[in-house]
Amino acid sequence: VNHLIGIKNITKRDIELIFETADQFKEVINRPIKKVPSLRDVTIANIFFENSTRTKLSFELAQKRLSADVISFSAAQSSVKKGETLIDTVNNILAMKVDMVVMRHSSPGAAHFLSQNVSASILNAGDGAHEHPTQALLDSFTIREKLGDVGGKKVVIVGDILHSRVALSNIFALQMQGAEVKVCGPKTLIPKYIESLGVTVEPNLRKALEWCDVANMLRVQNERLDVSYFPTTREYTQQYGVTKELLQSLNKEVVIMHPGPINRGVEITSDVADSGQSVILNQVENGVAVRMAVIYLLASKIKN
Ligand code: CP
Repeated sequence: VNHLIGIKNITKRDIELIFETADQFKEVINRPIKKVPSLRDVTIANIFFENSTRTKLSFELAQKRLSADVISFSAAQSSVKKGETLIDTVNNILAMKVDMVVMRHSSPGAAHFLSQNVSASILNAGDGAHEHPTQALLDSFTIREKLGDVGGKKVVIVGDILHSRVALSNIFALQMQGAEVKVCGPKTLIPKYIESLGVTVEPNLRKALEWCDVANMLRVQNERLDVSYFPTTREYTQQYGVTKELLQSLNKEVVIMHPGPINRGVEITSDVADSGQSVILNQVENGVAVRMAVIYLLASKIKN
């Protein structure tokens, strides 16, 4: 397969290979000369139909560290605004001899649709509430780095599960590697199908934190919410916000993760986000090495 559409489409062995490759790239990017010449003959287009800070910059940096030629496209400043379709847009970019497309889009299934309709390698950088595979890979890579292994670990994903591609990709990746997964959040933000994925729902945040090794805190995605949803931000923070006092009362050290962007003071207080228990910036750092690995492995299939 020349695409990475979702964690659902890959295997445990694929994840292991990505991590072994990322280990080597992490070593490279910590050297004074942070680049390798591996992809000098590969051209990559990053096309983003939704806003991004971490994913877009991390992909660009990963591509540059691999010596690929890179072009970046933001839908907001493009001819999409004049009515050009997704396929026309991508085919015009591909006519410029592009080998790989990294795409973020608000529609679930957009990356799969593209993979079926254009001739380039497609890498999903987030499609609506469906999947965000490289985020889940960098999250697992960070757990492995911090705790030695993902297998056997207990991970709770807290917050807006309903609108979260990060949650879904993490559930697939964690379970594939032998971790146990619970979700915690208000009923209105937990999808009904979640238990059919082998995930337990724990509505009580304290109980969830007492149970887990790792808590992955998600942002409430106000931009995807119906205005009539419950609870309000204040109620949400009271019931599901992680504070230093709560963590200190647990008598154990839970690893705190967050994919970003953080709503400081809503799902997590600043003293937790910036504490030694938080691996939030380690996740961002690892994103570059993990994305280098994914791009490198996909590109080696293009070239063969
Ligand atoms: N984690 C993540 O996807 O962040 P961005 O939306 O800033 O890319």
